[in-house]
Amino acid sequence: MGQLFNRHVVLGITGGIAAYKAALLVRELQERGAKVRVVMTRGATEFITPLTLQALSGNPVHQELLDNEAEAAMGHIELARWADLVLVAPATADFIARLAAGRADDLLTTLCLATSAQVLVAPAMNQGMWKDPATTDNIAMLEQRGTRLLGPAHGTQACGDIGPGRMREPQLIAEDVAGLFSRDLLDGRRLVITAGPTREALDPVRYISNHSSGKMGFAIARAAADAGAITTLISGPVSLATPDRVRRVDVISAEDMLQAAQAELGQCDIFIASAAVADYRPVAAAEQKIKKSSEHMQIELVRNPDIVATIASGAERPFTVGFAAETQNVESYALAKLQKKNLDMIVANDVATSEGGFNSDNNAAVILWPGGRNEVELTSKEQLARILIETIAARYPAAPAA
Ligand code: PMT
Repeated sequence: MGQLFNRHVVLGITGGIAAYKAALLVRELQERGAKVRVVMTRGATEFITPLTLQALSGNPVHQELLDNEAEAAMGHIELARWADLVLVAPATADFIARLAAGRADDLLTTLCLATSAQVLVAPAMNQGMWKDPATTDNIAMLEQRGTRLLGPAHGTQACGDIGPGRMREPQLIAEDVAGLFSRDLLDGRRLVITAGPTREALDPVRYISNHSSGKMGFAIARAAADAGAITTLISGPVSLATPDRVRRVDVISAEDMLQAAQAELGQCDIFIASAAVADYRPVAAAEQKIKKSSEHMQIELVRNPDIVATIASGAERPFTVGFAAETQNVESYALAKLQKKNLDMIVANDVATSEGGFNSDNNAAVILWPGGRNEVELTSKEQLARILIETIAARYPAAPAA
């Protein structure tokens, strides 16, 4: 798989002759594993048809800001959240000016304002327009705000002029984009993560469990492997495919999970506990199926071991990150767990909302550590996972194992 595996790229196309190259760019991004959604300005549709981009990207092309049908399918805010990256190629002088002015008078400019993802622009215009002080000022302003510039290239232009202003070649743009994601933040670090639910058997056919799908933990495993970590995923029973370059250990119960986690100690620099571990298990699982008899039934439960607290209390503890799934007082309860379980970091996860938490593709969280916090608004679990890995990578050297 390429370095853009599963990355969500919104490709914005504006109205210049280089728009035809956007078709090749879609292919180049997809070949590296990216999922691409295309947004076109009206001008762009004069140079290349939306149908071409729809056929290549495999998704409907987004064109209008005020479009009931499009908003019902994937609205502009949803698109802004979906994006891991917004790439505008080609970006005309007019689009660059409107972006610099903070305009939101069409879908693409609105999306660029609304997204929290990195915005990249690949300018394409006549060399005189590129050199004009107005364009120079607009570019400087965008760069100052964090927008990244790809190109332009120098050479012969469609109008016959020679100079700077050609759009960078699609293959080079795709390589630039892939380069953004291939930073080896955790190169060679050994990272172990727990994910999914546990099942605590009542009898051979019944168990106590919860709604965890494993999506959050699997996304973290993927982000860790992308960041260069040697990643082991200890997973409860879920129906998800193992991410590339991740070693997976399947377990059923909390006790199994603890055993698997302890077996990794000594070969683990960073431990992340995202699993929703059952706090209690039946005192004894019946050997045979329990038969229906009286109206009421009582099951005696006993506390399960706390896996993350056990790992964090060891003499050779790794950098230990927990999660706190809460429905109220989210941040204060999470901080209490950070301290009580002797963690280096905790992800406070409000699981009372319908938009994030258990089994959703999205999540919102506050990442907390002693003296610091990083609030991540509702986004995809993939994106939250990458932010968590970046936050861990930034903190890890500062807090080596005790
Ligand atoms: O799997 P998904 O559907 O994607 O949902 C993701 C999630 C909501 C499960 C995940 O984001 C999350 O919040 N995971 C933590 C769930 C949880 O059990 O939280 P807790 O507050 O009960 O536990 C606190 C911490 O202790 C967690 O790191 C947990 O893994 C750990 N723990 C808890 C009990 C136990 N016996 N052993 C533990 O290690």
